[in-house]
Amino acid sequence: MWSGRFREPLDTEFEQWQRSIVFDWRLLPQEVAASKAHASALYAAGIITESERAELRAGLDAIASEHSSDAGKAAVRDHATAEDIHHFVELSLVERVGSLGLKLHTGRSRNEQIATDLRLYVREQIQLTIASLAAWASALVELAKQSGDAVMPSYTHLQRAEPVLIAHWLLAYAEMLLRDVSRLHDCAARLNYCPLGSGPIAGATLALDRTIAARELGFTAPTANSMDATSDRDFVLEFLTALTFVGLHASRFAEEITLFATAEFGFVLLPEAFSTGSSAMPQKKNPDLTELLRAKVGRIHGAAEAVTLQIKGLPLAYNKDLQETQEQAFAVEFVPQMLSLVARFTAALKFNQDAMRTAAQNGYLNAMAAATYLVYKGVPFRIAHEKIGNTVRYALEKGVELNALSLAELKEFGEEFEADFFPAVDLNATLDCHDVIGGTARERVREALHATESRIAALTHPQEAVHAGA
Ligand code: ARG
Repeated sequence: MWSGRFREPLDTEFEQWQRSIVFDWRLLPQEVAASKAHASALYAAGIITESERAELRAGLDAIASEHSSDAGKAAVRDHATAEDIHHFVELSLVERVGSLGLKLHTGRSRNEQIATDLRLYVREQIQLTIASLAAWASALVELAKQSGDAVMPSYTHLQRAEPVLIAHWLLAYAEMLLRDVSRLHDCAARLNYCPLGSGPIAGATLALDRTIAARELGFTAPTANSMDATSDRDFVLEFLTALTFVGLHASRFAEEITLFATAEFGFVLLPEAFSTGSSAMPQKKNPDLTELLRAKVGRIHGAAEAVTLQIKGLPLAYNKDLQETQEQAFAVEFVPQMLSLVARFTAALKFNQDAMRTAAQNGYLNAMAAATYLVYKGVPFRIAHEKIGNTVRYALEKGVELNALSLAELKEFGEEFEADFFPAVDLNATLDCHDVIGGTARERVREALHATESRIAALTHPQEAVHAGA
């Protein structure tokens, strides 16, 4: 491929060590697509004839289909002599179509090829990730619908705070996932420019119409600067960074489910299909899925960190360092499958609604609602807070909830208390007093469910808003 100016053979160990075919074999479909597009550009520039173009493209298609099976992929990975996927496709093409295959490398460089292949690959991974995020978000919404008006305690500082609808809690995760999708859409739009025609660094030395390949490959336009295009891997880092958010959100969900599935909480019943036993302790049902989910963010973050270090301080333009960024992009291939597992796990979750309601009704979770009651009686909130705080201390000592106190006892803490206090701090009133956009009032949550559902449905159309806004 490049040995013309060399007198000595490569050190055999080094030769093996620097090859990328062992991982870039994954890029065969992208390499074939980009090569076909380049053949079209060569034809338009008058470098090859129409029948040569057709023969090259047919040969490339044949290479792709020959290697689409698992065995075919393994054959690419284990190829004895190809240095990388670009070399492999060229060798295979020459085997098929003879010296015509050598014409394909006219006016292009592996530097622009890898930049193009990797963009195509990341673009595809983004679409897969978005689809699986949408499926998970749908599963959350479905579970939220099934929970109806069932309640649970919410927590700040992991101490009981106020009652919320289970649906409200689940929709919080749907929000995170919708933000993740919007981040991935941004990334996909920004990377969607075609490096082909950039040459090794300064631009192709043939007068290629760069829009031909760009259009054929579904790119928005050709990239604007050849030096940037051949050395830019920002899109890899941006993709990995967007995935770290996905990982963080998955990890937070995993942690809460793990916690809520403990005997101490007893809120969540782990689906047996997604749990494992212990080989030592016969009674155990372990939340392996959520534990692994919680840990996976480490790999994603590690990949993003690696790329940051690989591209920092690189002089323009292409440097072989960039080859290493590929493996980091491939290291997160597990994410779409992981997300679809989580979606199925989510769909199979069952709640112990009695335990959740009991927890929501014990521990003075209606104290905010009680203070609000006094506010409506004209008491300044700071004073109301003080009065309810004193009432809670008294109730604590007595070992009862606020609504178990008599009106006479309440009046000791404020003459504003009336009989209408009791319905004002019952469970439904405590929920419904949060009657604001984004609040847990039952009607608001019903609206949020519908709104979230349509935002998820709109995800297949990237242009539509996925941002919050009721
Ligand atoms: N396998 C190489 C990579 O992934 C392809 C580009 C090689 N370019 C070069 N000038 N050696 O980076």
